[in-house]
Amino acid sequence: MDGRAVFDKKCASCHRYEVKKYDFAKEKHSLKAPPMNEISRRLKKRIKVYDKDIHRFVVVSFIKEYIKHPSFTYYMCDDKAVARFDIMPAITDMREEEYQTVAEWIYDNYSIEEYGKKPK
Ligand code: HEC
Repeated sequence: MDGRAVFDKKCASCHRYEVKKYDFAKEKHSLKAPPMNEISRRLKKRIKVYDKDIHRFVVVSFIKEYIKHPSFTYYMCDDKAVARFDIMPAITDMREEEYQTVAEWIYDNYSIEEYGKKPK
């Protein structure tokens, strides 16, 4: 199963695929969790590793670990989001390669730059 398919099956019930920054205020009330484009952007920015390949490895590893063991002690989400949504429930019923592909997809599918841009 590819990353997007895992996302659709296991994550999309809570995480929207994408909410652009300029739509956030409008969409906020309908969210059950932070949208995945925002999570991808935040993790990539907060985890500071200068080598590109190692950066990808560390972010992907964090995501994999987080899905299995979400925690108050090391979330990187916005504090306000955690206060509002609470901590994510652990997802423990996926195959090992599904954790890997969905985490890689979250890293590769979104670009940090796109997030704030308005369509022309
Ligand atoms: C039942 C709802 C729910 C489902 C299903 C769910 N999540 Fe979450 N997720 C949340 C909430 C709420 C948060 C924000 C609070 C937090 O960070 O724990 C979150 C946060 C996250 C974060 C941010 C971690 C951080 O540092 O705070 C990642 C990454 C994530 N989810 C990945 C996934 C992936 C991948 C899936 C599917 C395999 C998934 N989630 C399924 C509710 C959900």
